[in-house]
Amino acid sequence: MFTIEAPKRWINISYANIATTSPAAHRAAAEWADAIARGGAAEFDGDAEQSALLPLRRATSRLLACGVADICVGSSATALMSSIAWAIAPREGSNVVSTQASFPSTVYPWSRVSESFGAEVRLAAHDDDMYTDPNSVMALIDEQTAVIVLSHVEYSNGQRYDLEAFSKAAREVDALLITDATQSMGMVPIDAPNFGVDAMVASGYKWLRGSFGAAVGYVSPRLRELNPGLVGFRSHADMWDMRPDRVDLPRDASRFEYTTLHFGAALGLAEAVKELDNFGIDEVWEHDLGLADLIISGAEELGFDIASPTNEAERSAIVSLRPPEGVDSDAVAFDLQEDHGIIVSSRSGLIRVSPHIDNVPEDIARLISALGSMLP
Ligand SMILES: Cc1ncc(COP(=O)(O)O)c(C=O)c1O
Repeated sequence: MFTIEAPKRWINISYANIATTSPAAHRAAAEWADAIARGGAAEFDGDAEQSALLPLRRATSRLLACGVADICVGSSATALMSSIAWAIAPREGSNVVSTQASFPSTVYPWSRVSESFGAEVRLAAHDDDMYTDPNSVMALIDEQTAVIVLSHVEYSNGQRYDLEAFSKAAREVDALLITDATQSMGMVPIDAPNFGVDAMVASGYKWLRGSFGAAVGYVSPRLRELNPGLVGFRSHADMWDMRPDRVDLPRDASRFEYTTLHFGAALGLAEAVKELDNFGIDEVWEHDLGLADLIISGAEELGFDIASPTNEAERSAIVSLRPPEGVDSDAVAFDLQEDHGIIVSSRSGLIRVSPHIDNVPEDIARLISALGSMLP
């Protein structure tokens, strides 16, 4: 069990939505905000601003077993994904392959660039449980495929894709594999270089247990020369040597860092990721899956169907339950919060439960008992 100091006002079992921020992350962010409120640049000078993203880059490189040079920091997963999409700019006649079950922000940046450059976006369909047959994604890939963009773990039912298999499929047609790891990073062990992913983005406020305002990106050495779609004064290798007539991009992933952001959020997220590094991501994964097992067995006993994949290869710690006939998922989520202080989310008509390291088996027992008391 992990030792975590956390207030227990709520039982938050909804890390796929918003984490209860790591107390260490919250402290670091608050200290930074206090310093700025005291003295602006007197307490956060140019050097501090220039190096403020390094702690998060370092901590994330440990988490993903890659070099610091492969990591960049942004303000959101969507901003990083957009910059990558505009950098790749799939050419006219090419196609981008993804899934209909994806979170919109995973696909929208690609739809937008495809609209400008004349590429086609192909989305694989899902079934009633939001399950996407990976073979149906593979079937959309052809010689014209420029990009495969996948959420490593889908947000609504927690389905996890085999990134190594998709990376192999991408290589065969000379396409790129871009991944949204917002629903996996911090929960699932990710060996970025060996998974063969070309680029990856993840928000900080879910499984990484940071707050809003900071996200991380992985850019593989293969894409080191990519010219970011979004640029600003921070894009120049020596950001304080400010001249608008040229920009020399850093020779590493930090070329995707282009602007000021809530540095406190980034410093805080660094602390949260360090915690995960210290706990060990394999142990975190085991813990989270153990809680997922308790959700599955408890919910099945109550007569709920499990919409999420439960096989080892495709499961994750996101467990989505189909409510019985006549029971509405929005109403269940609302009542759990109002009457029991238990936070889950309602997505696509399913009750989505997503436990993480702040949760203990007792939290799941409370959830199952509350769900049981609500059934007709
Ligand atoms: C898969 C996925 N990507 C991206 C996001 C949103 O990311 P951000 O708010 O950092 O843009 C979410 C939020 O639920 C998500 O589930």
